[in-house]
Amino acid sequence: MPAEKRELVHPSPSVVAAANVQNLDELRRHAANDLEGFWAERAREFEWSQPWDRVLDASKAPFFKWFVGARTNIVHNCLDRHVRTARRNKLALIWEGEKGDVRTFSYHALNREVCMFANILRSMGVKKGDRVTIYMGRIPELPIAMLACAKIGAVHSVVFGGFSAEALHGRIEDSQSNVVITCDGGWMNGKIVELKKMVDEALKRSPTIEHVIVVKRTGQEVQMEAGRDYWLHELMQLPIARGQSGGNRCETEQMDAEDPLFLLYTSGTTGKPKAILHTHGGYMVGTATTLKWVFDLKEEDRWWCTADPGWITGHSYLVYGPLLLGATSFMYEGAPTYPYPNRWWSMIEKYGINVFYTAPTAIRGLMRFGEAWPNRHDLSGLRLLGSVGEPINPEAWRWYHRVIGKERCPIMDTWWQTETGMFMITPLPVMDLDPGSATLPFPGVEVDILDEHGTPVATGEEGYLVIKRPWPAMLRTIYGDPDRYVQQYWSKYPGLYFTGDSARRDENGHLWIIGRVDDVIKVSGYRLGTAEVESALVSHPAVAEAAVIGIAHEVKGQAIHAYIILRSGQTPSEELHDAVIKHVAHELGPIAKPEKLTFVTQLPKTRSGKIMRRVLKARAQGLPEGDISTLEE
Ligand code: WT7
Repeated sequence: MPAEKRELVHPSPSVVAAANVQNLDELRRHAANDLEGFWAERAREFEWSQPWDRVLDASKAPFFKWFVGARTNIVHNCLDRHVRTARRNKLALIWEGEKGDVRTFSYHALNREVCMFANILRSMGVKKGDRVTIYMGRIPELPIAMLACAKIGAVHSVVFGGFSAEALHGRIEDSQSNVVITCDGGWMNGKIVELKKMVDEALKRSPTIEHVIVVKRTGQEVQMEAGRDYWLHELMQLPIARGQSGGNRCETEQMDAEDPLFLLYTSGTTGKPKAILHTHGGYMVGTATTLKWVFDLKEEDRWWCTADPGWITGHSYLVYGPLLLGATSFMYEGAPTYPYPNRWWSMIEKYGINVFYTAPTAIRGLMRFGEAWPNRHDLSGLRLLGSVGEPINPEAWRWYHRVIGKERCPIMDTWWQTETGMFMITPLPVMDLDPGSATLPFPGVEVDILDEHGTPVATGEEGYLVIKRPWPAMLRTIYGDPDRYVQQYWSKYPGLYFTGDSARRDENGHLWIIGRVDDVIKVSGYRLGTAEVESALVSHPAVAEAAVIGIAHEVKGQAIHAYIILRSGQTPSEELHDAVIKHVAHELGPIAKPEKLTFVTQLPKTRSGKIMRRVLKARAQGLPEGDISTLEE
């Protein structure tokens, strides 16, 4: 929270006049007084094959249940119900490849593709509850595969295409998937990312996998293992794709509201990523409501969420949220600077994007190329902008607001997590903004900022951010590890959800997120656990011990600084330095590459042997080391 006197940014009158939500105070009151009634009203905007008996069951908290007894399928509400109406001819998805190729899908066409894909999965024996791992580039078949899984009740686990074979292997193993969906390769920065090759490597040690479905994207040579690997375009030609009754139809499996929809792995305090589990009913109601209210999507809007579907932002606000609202989304395959730094701005102009949602790291990255690039394009179609993933520094906020939004478009700075499924702290278009603050909780969300003992801190003081009441899109558990779910999120303060973030509240009541308080580093908005990176470091044969910390980085927000102790007999050298960095990229993926690597002979440790990263951080920043009474000699 900047110390100088700040002036709030008031919303533009035209945006306010058009806003979907006008009676915000009334809605806040309704949610505060009658949480269940509030969410029930939202849920009634969807089709359920059976209504709920109860909105919320907290009897086994923190294993909350929403819309108890209700039946639906999120895909029924994303596709089936739209294709019965005039929306069938509306564009659901406009996609552009990095090389400029374009594909579009009406709701009818998207539904047809999803049905055929779902028929193929069914014919391969994929059943309700089975896990399917998806590891792909940013192409339309990625959302199509997700929807196909959900349609037949299978649980998708999307692994970001930037992760390594090793990371992929761990996630296939943990989820016990039987099927992997991938593509030959993906285009990124003019180069091919060899996804199928990574899958081959990962599968050497994944005996549960029976089938691999491969989408042809780049066309380069890949190995296909007979009896295991199948080209999607060939499967699509088979009669099975047309479905049992023909006509490319496929029945949507009716699910319990609480049945799992997907797993998504995210980093935490231990070396092992955890699978966050979300469900059909509550997730549907939470994502659609937040998107409709915060980004104010209108029937005729074109929405662009730049996130990869491999992250929660892509799941909630590129795939499910927009389709639930019957909106038109834009999706782009490649890098924002390919071939020039105006690529994004040119597509905003070309496709007439009205609402644009991206991350601070991207803004800062594009800011460096100067204003001339965006200024070459007509961005006047934009009405609202958004930001997510880390705190947006006021300088980047102002550039985004002035250069991209022409001081006309409010910026919705949305705070949320993989675990929350939906926006939790965020402005709405009618609200005053304070650059760098995510402002206030969404209606029905109640937060607090606590000290170590659970006492609320005073205005302006920093403390732990907690959430006080359940919300429909909340995670239900960590797949396969319910104890860890309780331990991680509900144990620090019994009855309260622990976010892992610290925050402050200012004199206007606005919330300022400071950052993670656990051992999580946010590199370009991506979540990485220090333990994961450290375990990748020590898996290099020359490394004995390792510690990593987050250091401030101008574009990435945070970057990784690794400290390593070599095994005896090894000596520091430039080659070893580069080899260790390369090894981490190979083990975890390029995003985990340390920015800096320092050879040391000792690491600050407590007498019990725990590495004191706090001390390393203080030293790196030249700050006082704080209480080091527990530091070993
Ligand atoms: C963590 C969650 C939620 C989608 C992408 C990230 C940080 C997220 C903001 C924001 C300040 C933010 C928090 C949070 N974060 N959005 N608007 N302002 N910090 O999902 O990978 O689960 O990371 O991202 O530290 O805990 P995620």
